[in-house]
Amino acid sequence: MEEQKSPILDNIFGYQTRIRKQDREYQKRQKAMCIWFTGLSGSGKSTLANALEQSLFEAGFNTYILDGDNIRLGLNKDLTFSEKDRRENIRRIGEVAKLFVDAGIIVITAFISPFEADRQMVRNLLEKDEFLEIFVDCPLEVCEQRDVKGLYKKARAGLIKDFTGIGSPFEVPQKPDLVIRTHLQPIETSVNQLLELVLPKISLKKPKPNHFVYNSSF
Ligand code: ADX
Repeated sequence: MEEQKSPILDNIFGYQTRIRKQDREYQKRQKAMCIWFTGLSGSGKSTLANALEQSLFEAGFNTYILDGDNIRLGLNKDLTFSEKDRRENIRRIGEVAKLFVDAGIIVITAFISPFEADRQMVRNLLEKDEFLEIFVDCPLEVCEQRDVKGLYKKARAGLIKDFTGIGSPFEVPQKPDLVIRTHLQPIETSVNQLLELVLPKISLKKPKPNHFVYNSSF
């Protein structure tokens, strides 16, 4: 469904900054990217995001992690886990991720992001080669057994409503760029799979942009 443009935007004009994304990418010797992890709570999204970030960081890449629990303690602390608020949660994260990409950063996100349409919305915010969807595919029973935060127990006891996998659905990604089965392999194998996908895509091949010369009429 095509979203209606709000009349609030009638008097807003986008501004093209002099230093552009390509300049920031060139300075950092990397191609900016959003690496989007999706999966159930306890599937291993944050663990993998951290392990991937550490490998990339140590290899000299400029990275940042946006993580569900952290963002929900700050930027999105006004949002619940209703379908509508989860959509808004992902919309805001998508916009923040886009800013990071514009800043030339490799941004790694770890959100349940249970709805296909919302993940698609983020994919559409970015350029084709700037978004990778990683499905952390771990069965509910395993996540529930791990229950790192004790939330599944609470949800089963009826203390948390709309808990993903119990009172709220998780829509399996239709066309993820990579599927990682954290219950079937050690973390090192998963990180290697990720690096194999990601490294060729974030290594900069483009020549230096040619608009660095100051021009007062710009
Ligand atoms: S999302 O569904 O809106 O994408 P998000 O990734 O931001 O979720 O936050 C998920 C985290 O919030 C979980 O890892 C868990 O710690 C916590 N949480 C609290 N209540 C819920 C709930 N009802 N469903 C899922 N996660 C919840």
